[in-house]
Amino acid sequence: MITDIQTDKLCQAAVDIRKNCYAPYSHFRVGAALLTSGGKIYTGVNVENAAYGPSNCAERTAVFKAVSEGETDFAAIAIAGGAEGADLQYCPPCGVCRQVLAEFCGPDFEVILTDGKGEPKRFTLGELLPESFGPENL
Ligand code: THU
Repeated sequence: MITDIQTDKLCQAAVDIRKNCYAPYSHFRVGAALLTSGGKIYTGVNVENAAYGPSNCAERTAVFKAVSEGETDFAAIAIAGGAEGADLQYCPPCGVCRQVLAEFCGPDFEVILTDGKGEPKRFTLGELLPESFGPENL
């Protein structure tokens, strides 16, 4: 498990980056912060599209940013989401993002949900995506 200090920093990064969301269609704004095993943080936001289908979630934005910088070894991700103009709520990652995380992260990888004020909710990727199909199945 990552430390409480790392958790706070990661959650804060997810909350802070949310200002850059591009969500003019759903008005649901999400920020994510991905911690590498080496201690670096890559952030991401949801980026929507007029054609809807090409929209990308915050978690995948963070993963793709990190992987494109040569990082593939991750310890945890924090997620902060909520409707525009409303309080943050605990926002679990969608199924596609769980699958993308499972490409790089094992079952002990930590997924941390923050509402910006209460205790963070912690899960492992193994809890969120049990019996997943991954590179080892090919
Ligand atoms: N969204 C995320 O970015 N991450 C999640 O964990 C859930 C959903 C985005 C996708 C879409 O832009 C908006 O939130 C509403 O679904």
